[in-house]
Amino acid sequence: MDRAYEDRIICNCNKVRYSDIERALREGNNLREIEENFRRVQEITKASTGCGGCHDKVLEVISEILNP
Ligand code: FES
Repeated sequence: MDRAYEDRIICNCNKVRYSDIERALREGNNLREIEENFRRVQEITKASTGCGGCHDKVLEVISEILNP
């Protein structure tokens, strides 16, 4: 995957990048449910813990990473 794509900010409030979400998912020990993964990503990266405006974007990124 190209670097600029991985470096783009997904959550503006907490400056969380695509690559941070990817890393958090790896630490999540292969959780199955998308919601579990979402909560794990929130805990680790703080993505989607501010205004919540990135919620759908974060979910999209998680499913993109889990189902390439
Ligand atoms: S942009 Fe992610 S919580 Fe506001």
